[in-house]
Amino acid sequence: MENLTVLLIFVSIRIASVFLTQTYFVPDEYWQSIEVAHKIVFDYGYLTWEWINGIRSYIHPLIFAVLYKCLELTGLDNPHALIYGPKILQALLSAYSDLCFYKWSGSKKWSVFIISSSWFWFYTGSRTLINSFECALSTIALNQFPWPGKGKDDNNKFIALIAILFAIRPTGIILWIPLCLYHLTIIKTGIMKTVFLRYMPIGLLVLTISTLLDSWMHGSFLVTGYEFVKYNFYYNIGEFYGSHPWHWYLSSGIPAIFGINLIPFVIATIVVLKNRQVYPNELILLGTVVFTVIVYSCLPHKEFRFLLPLLPIVFYISSRFLSSWSRKANTILLWAVAIIIFTGNLGPTWYFSFAHQRGTLDVMDPLREIASNDTSNKHFLFLMPCHSTPYYSHLHVNVSSRFLTCEPNFNKSNTHYIDEADTFYNNPNVWLRQHYPPNGTLPSHIIMFDSLAAGVSDILSRYKLTHQIFHTSFPTSRIGRFVLIHELLSKI
Ligand SMILES: *[C@@H]1O[C@H](CO)[C@@H](O)[C@H](O)[C@H]1NC(C)=O
Ligand SMILES: *[C@@H]1O[C@H](CO)[C@@H](O)[C@H](O)[C@H]1NC(C)=O
Ligand SMILES: *[C@@H]1O[C@H](CO)[C@@H](O)[C@H](O)[C@H]1NC(C)=O
Ligand SMILES: *[C@@H]1O[C@H](CO)[C@@H](O)[C@H](O)[C@H]1NC(C)=O
Repeated sequence: MENLTVLLIFVSIRIASVFLTQTYFVPDEYWQSIEVAHKIVFDYGYLTWEWINGIRSYIHPLIFAVLYKCLELTGLDNPHALIYGPKILQALLSAYSDLCFYKWSGSKKWSVFIISSSWFWFYTGSRTLINSFECALSTIALNQFPWPGKGKDDNNKFIALIAILFAIRPTGIILWIPLCLYHLTIIKTGIMKTVFLRYMPIGLLVLTISTLLDSWMHGSFLVTGYEFVKYNFYYNIGEFYGSHPWHWYLSSGIPAIFGINLIPFVIATIVVLKNRQVYPNELILLGTVVFTVIVYSCLPHKEFRFLLPLLPIVFYISSRFLSSWSRKANTILLWAVAIIIFTGNLGPTWYFSFAHQRGTLDVMDPLREIASNDTSNKHFLFLMPCHSTPYYSHLHVNVSSRFLTCEPNFNKSNTHYIDEADTFYNNPNVWLRQHYPPNGTLPSHIIMFDSLAAGVSDILSRYKLTHQIFHTSFPTSRIGRFVLIHELLSKI
């Protein structure tokens, strides 16, 4: 197929995902990207402790800040532009990275099919998550990598991309450690020369630029990568946000995000391992997958999204296997396999993009309307686990609001630290009486999950329910089936 045709297919799929994924995934999608951009450009918003302490690089949010600034200057900064604009930017980058994947994996129809039908990439490819951004850059770099036997000249582009990946999130380059070592074994110009004349200068240049950028944005000199490592190791932040057993990626993470696509991948892996001489590149890629999963498994904090950069590698191996298999297979079998893979991805695509956890995004529409009407005596109180909803990027009104925070413990001598959200959930009424005494000013609107309503009936006796918005079919103790908005009854 023509590259342009393929690119158009990818652009349509990724743009469709901008509008079809209507659900909430993880807080970082908003709080570490567009909320930061909103604060930079419009001067109101919320910066989480990561930004106050300078442990994140500004490179990623600045991309959205530039977009927001353009929208502001042209007067087009309406809430919908602020919500969809950044997603469209990421979707276009993802579509371009899909094209790179297609070229890298040998311009096969199966590679178009496999990457297009992946439910997890459909679900995350248009989100303003740093991991989606990383996955796209990583795929572009994989295509630039001088794989033996592919006729690609050795170049510095992939080194620059790895340096950028390192600058935006140091742990994002774990995957590239084995690949860079492999690169050093296949070059013809000498290891020392490559390390000192290519890796080091490019790395230093990128890191200098990113350090200057971060220091300028932060207001004082700092190296975000260093601060990141310092905070994570010294305060054990990762563990604070939940730890999982060592086998979580094998037992939950990988099966969930690859789903049915694991079947061709496992078969392809067996074929590659049996014919090691024939598939040197696949062998290195498998080693990379194993290395990455082992390192990730050693880190206590585990998430689905951290696996994203493995997606192109797994799909490379399975799509190349499928295309060489399909040359010999009969047409009916071929269609059967395609249909099974497609339907196997359709279910999760529909469910996760459309149904699961949609209430915390949907609730922002009525809140925006309420806030836009008149901000003067409005105060929103979000009684939910911290960062359950987006914030000012979706309201785009400077309304007073408050949510339950969940900052990690920065005081090592305080061994009984409990964050605000946990303090609240331990005894909601006590927390409410302390922060909102009955004779003081009450919030004009309370936003919470239905599962909490019975626990805060005292305060709710002064409110009326105005909205009940579906959230999920699988409620837990803190995450309910519905999101509710209660409005303060006016005293007459
Ligand atoms: C937003 O509102 C807060 C509190 O009302 C006020 O202090 C702040 O100056 C406002 N910011 C902007 C940019 O309007
Ligand atoms: C806006 O405020 C006015 C007066 O305060 C009220 O009558 C009207 O219903 C409000 N509209 C919305 C959409 O809340
Ligand atoms: C740290 O925690 C200890 C024990 O709870 C407390 O006495 C001390 O004031 C705290 N220090 C700071 C800076 O908050
Ligand atoms: C509310 O009542 C408490 C005692 O019940 C009192 O200490 C406090 O000052 C009062 N606050 C206001 C704003 O009246």
